[in-house]
Amino acid sequence: METVDVLIKNANELITLRGSNKPRIKNQMSQLSIIKNGSIAIKDGLIFDIGKNLRYKSDKIIDANKKTVMPGFVDPHTHLVFAGAREFELDMKLKGQTYMDILKKGGGIIYTVTKTRKATQSELIKQSKIRLNNMLIHGTTTCEAKSGYGLETESELKILKTQKKLNETHPIDIVSTFLGAHAVPRDHTTKEYVDIINNEMLPKVNRYAKFCDVFCEKGVFTPNQSKKILETGKKYGLIPKIHADEIVDTGGAALAAEIGAISADHLLRSNNKGLSLMAKKGIIGVMLPGTSFSLMMKDYAPARKIIDLGVPVALATDLNPNCWTENMQFIIQLACLNMKMTPSEAICATTFNSACAIGLNNKIGSIEKRKQADIIILNCPNHKFIPYHYGINLVETVIKKGIIL
Ligand code: NIG
Ligand code: FE
Repeated sequence: METVDVLIKNANELITLRGSNKPRIKNQMSQLSIIKNGSIAIKDGLIFDIGKNLRYKSDKIIDANKKTVMPGFVDPHTHLVFAGAREFELDMKLKGQTYMDILKKGGGIIYTVTKTRKATQSELIKQSKIRLNNMLIHGTTTCEAKSGYGLETESELKILKTQKKLNETHPIDIVSTFLGAHAVPRDHTTKEYVDIINNEMLPKVNRYAKFCDVFCEKGVFTPNQSKKILETGKKYGLIPKIHADEIVDTGGAALAAEIGAISADHLLRSNNKGLSLMAKKGIIGVMLPGTSFSLMMKDYAPARKIIDLGVPVALATDLNPNCWTENMQFIIQLACLNMKMTPSEAICATTFNSACAIGLNNKIGSIEKRKQADIIILNCPNHKFIPYHYGINLVETVIKKGIIL
């Protein structure tokens, strides 16, 4: 009998998400390709074999009887690296102040920018590591992380270098996005700042990031300014992403299609035409229900409509000082209970489709032979428990690159 590094056996549900390697749309999202009483053999950090009653020798055999086994969560939209906290804003929100009211008064992003600029790299590493540990115990094995609390070249570089260091030292894989266009710093006009991003920042930050993102929103960056930044980013080898139509419909979804973004994120107010254009180009719509929740908004991204229009969707935490959660299980709960996504759709949106949203679907996001062995074991008999049994951590074991953590 052949020997493997780890053998997981008897999983009540082994959710593989095997199948097409393209972002999944509509009905495809319901096909989780579940194996009852499933086993996985892991060797050299990769998935070696999958099936029922696999026969291998191993020093590490995990009995997953009565449990659910699935790919680790992929969180495709976070603002991981920031200093300080903004718990005091809750009182303002409870009094009815909006996100934009707080931002215009120099709070919100600008408050966090002040703190983050002052922090040393080792302070940022220390604070962010705690969040990464939280992510990991809740089952996230890969995440995207955006800069954007620097808003000046050196501070943006400090954040991106922090992300690089964290990626090298923490078990979670981190993919970096440059979000210099997160807000306009107080000492510049928008026009001046757009020029700084295009001429000064992008030529320096590009080696530390894979994606370039823009907060395209009324009162922040216009679609034209966003387009210019994303086009310059493309010239420097960065793949576009957009914070689109979160508060007002500015045509962000259509811009994502026009520029060939890999994803457009938020999408609460996007118009049908823009969404259809995204569907046509296979651009992932990343929905962030934690943001609606933490802002106490009345509505969430219209997931049913977005899915019906044929947009492949993913879900993310949006982890940031305004929406502080590291827990993708909670995001699934919000997606099912408040956005009417089915448990299967929400699982596809937090694993395979979210891997697509950061261009890693060849490597992670499903349990298939030769993919990275990023696997979680949940203490529940089936996947429907994830949105059903809320408020606790269902993840019992995390395996990253074949290593049981
Ligand atoms: O995705 N919308 C812009 N950026 C973040 C919020 C960042 C913050 O408030 O600090 C978001 O929601
Ligand atoms: Fe965000």
